Amino acid sequence: METVDLHFHLDAEATLVTNRMLCVRNPQAENGPIRLWAEELERLSLTVDGSAPLAVRDDGTLLEIDAAGERVVVEVQTRIRPGANTTLSGLYVSNDGFFTQCEAEGFRRITCFPDRPDVMARFTVTLEADRAACPVLLSNGNLIDAGELPAGRHFARWEDPFPKPSYLFALVAAKLVVLERQVRTQSGREVLLQVWVEEGNLDRCAHALDALVNSMRWDEETFGLELDLDRFMIVAVADFNMGAMENKGLNIFNTKFVLAKPDTATDVDYEHIESVVAHEYFHNWTGNRVTCRDWFQLTLKEGLTVFRDQQFSADMLARAAGEEGAASARAVKRIDDVRVLRAAQFPEDAGPMAHPIRPDRYQEINNFYTATVYEKGAEIIRMLHTLLGQEGFRNGMDLYFSYYDGQAVTCDDFVEVMSEANGVDLDQFMRWYSQAGTPRVRASGVWDAASASYTLTLAQSTPPTPGQPDKQALVIPVALGLIGPDGRDCVLRLEGEATGKASTRVLTLSAMEQSFRFVDLPAEPVPSLLRGFSAPVILELEEDDARLAFRMAHDADPCNRWDAAQRYAERVVLALAADPDAQVPAAYVQAMRTLLNAHSLDPAFRAQALALPGETYLLERMTPADPLALRAALQRLMRTLGEQLAAEWLAVFDAMQVAGEYRYHPRDAGCRALANLALRYLAAADDAQGLARAQQRFDAATNMTERFGALSALVHSTHPAREQALAAFHARYRDDALVLDKWFALQAGAWRWDPAALPTLARVRHLMADPAFSLSNPNKVYALLGTYFRANPGEFHAADGSGHAFWADQVLALNAKNPQVAARMARALENWRRFTPALQHSMRTQVQRVQASDGLSADVAEVLGKALE
Ligand code: ARG
Ligand code: ZN
Repeated sequence: METVDLHFHLDAEATLVTNRMLCVRNPQAENGPIRLWAEELERLSLTVDGSAPLAVRDDGTLLEIDAAGERVVVEVQTRIRPGANTTLSGLYVSNDGFFTQCEAEGFRRITCFPDRPDVMARFTVTLEADRAACPVLLSNGNLIDAGELPAGRHFARWEDPFPKPSYLFALVAAKLVVLERQVRTQSGREVLLQVWVEEGNLDRCAHALDALVNSMRWDEETFGLELDLDRFMIVAVADFNMGAMENKGLNIFNTKFVLAKPDTATDVDYEHIESVVAHEYFHNWTGNRVTCRDWFQLTLKEGLTVFRDQQFSADMLARAAGEEGAASARAVKRIDDVRVLRAAQFPEDAGPMAHPIRPDRYQEINNFYTATVYEKGAEIIRMLHTLLGQEGFRNGMDLYFSYYDGQAVTCDDFVEVMSEANGVDLDQFMRWYSQAGTPRVRASGVWDAASASYTLTLAQSTPPTPGQPDKQALVIPVALGLIGPDGRDCVLRLEGEATGKASTRVLTLSAMEQSFRFVDLPAEPVPSLLRGFSAPVILELEEDDARLAFRMAHDADPCNRWDAAQRYAERVVLALAADPDAQVPAAYVQAMRTLLNAHSLDPAFRAQALALPGETYLLERMTPADPLALRAALQRLMRTLGEQLAAEWLAVFDAMQVAGEYRYHPRDAGCRALANLALRYLAAADDAQGLARAQQRFDAATNMTERFGALSALVHSTHPAREQALAAFHARYRDDALVLDKWFALQAGAWRWDPAALPTLARVRHLMADPAFSLSNPNKVYALLGTYFRANPGEFHAADGSGHAFWADQVLALNAKNPQVAARMARALENWRRFTPALQHSMRTQVQRVQASDGLSADVAEVLGKALE
């Protein structure tokens, strides 16, 4: 396809799309018809070079056109109804404006097209709409013409100079205002950066625009990659299935990842906005300039771009923290990423949807925008970065763009350039792209006093996953340190080496089992393995409580210090869950006290290390999964820590007060996070002073992080003020959709500390009737239903099965409206086989009920089919 000329006559009820495609016969392809895909299109006309085609075969989704000649113009006109498009894929209406989402296969819902990523064309787009309703008309590339039309309508014409696949097409026609900034690129070109939002939101765009400028600079400095367009636009829309979309020059974002001001957005929101803006901006090179040959290669752009946005965020945090705080700021970011991986990707890799980062089959590609493709994909790129080093990785990236700019390529192409640029063999490494499942690394060490040596043995195994019974050895970088009895890192010298160094080093495990012998160790060291979480694996290492406490206090690697606290907590919680009479060990409380009192440690780090492991991760570690027992154990543990450390929590809360006007800064954010955590523990213990502080903070807060932190603490207590606080919060933000999402999510995700309180299901049902709730808005569904289904296992899996029956009703209701959102909710029960027999029965019954119903979308059918396989 050489060029595509699109004309849109926009109207909610009947939009006319005229599409002129210049098709050139591919000399490498066998002679065959022109193949165009179509979905829910009303085709009005079809011509080839202005006449009726020789022959047309149409099965409703695939259109085959026989055409003679080397170059032909195919013109097709379709009529679509954006106002009735509830799927939010293709062209749809949100708050009277028109927006598109074409990845992965939404373009075929707009016009007949060879809708596959390896077909790239230069697009010209003419938009025509009512001027009053849609004063702003945007599409990809550069604005080349605009003007008035009769009957109050107007038009704009856009031309994108870069050939692109159809999934990167976008248009916006809406009533919007802009915050913009002119900046100069590295090479001195003037470019215009814009953030388009609805009128009332102009005071919430500054952070996103700053993030865009910072992203641009970072990609110039880190990878030598410059913005290639004269203007780069971000548009925020309230109805959006995912986070955001990297359409060429016209990124479309969920409002959640654009809008922020101190009164409405938390520190975490600010952080997410920065990273999503960066992610989409970085796609301009990793995704758009070099794109995917087919959708199996999705991780080629997503894993790489997530890795790039993670590095960017770490650099931004480190820069803001200053020299002294930089290392800790980076570690805190890394810990966040590891938490996400463990909570979302590990369960996926252990369930019926397990797939390699490059899946080898799918029924509905939209189901594969997963934690595996994205987050595990980013870990695979990170391992390459670790193995090749910053410079070697950069050389590989340079080679990648020199070979493949403007092309649609594969993951093999990417790994091959990394190999070529560095002269290393990465054949075995490629197995990470084809094997599913989280690998286990079992480690054991033996210290020999006589020879003052320590032998570390590492053995790997990957459990079977659907369709993959046997796994081969992977290349696993294991960063490690050995800690001496004084708490300091030992000099690491492998047998046969002349010298050693007292710092972390990376061993490469590539066989099923390997041993490494370190010498010059006169005392038995404590191993600290997988530092910085150097590979996406589960480390199995026997450590007694004393060792975990020792590493919690001394491990020089902050990630591992945090991980030691997580492991210790996991052990304690699972013991409490297994035995209701068990006690919280005094040594554990003492280890937490030591961390709490370690005032020299960065508050953000302390907040990470003192927070318990996530409930979904713990559920994954429990066999069989018993969510009610786990919840009870977590509550007992939090209460005990709240009671026994009350004085310390109060002191730390008071010490963490941030003076002055709100700013998004890692140091301030760290203080606020630790203060909010202190309130949570105090509230869990119903500590009167703690609750008084929470109430006072809720009333006096000057920013959302503090206000919402205090509200969350109150809601997680038995204090009668919790309902009043929820009502006051609602009254204050009743017209603010994004803040109401927080209000919905808090209630859907709340633990029940007061046994007399309403069960969460009753509350969720009640909230569904709130006028602010809508099943048509994905953010609302994710906030209320998504939180209840996925982040509140102790309530959702109520023994009477009421949560599961409710789940089935909602999946069916959503299926009819928006299959992508429905499928995401459907996944909440996919791991049903891991649960206790009674819960298994209840879950399976409901999964079968949904599966047996009529009109199931391919999206939902795939998820449930796999769950029941
Ligand atoms: N490429 C987008 C992103 O960054 C995701 C869009 C996917 N949308 C979808 N409906 N499958 O990450
Ligand atoms: Zn992406």
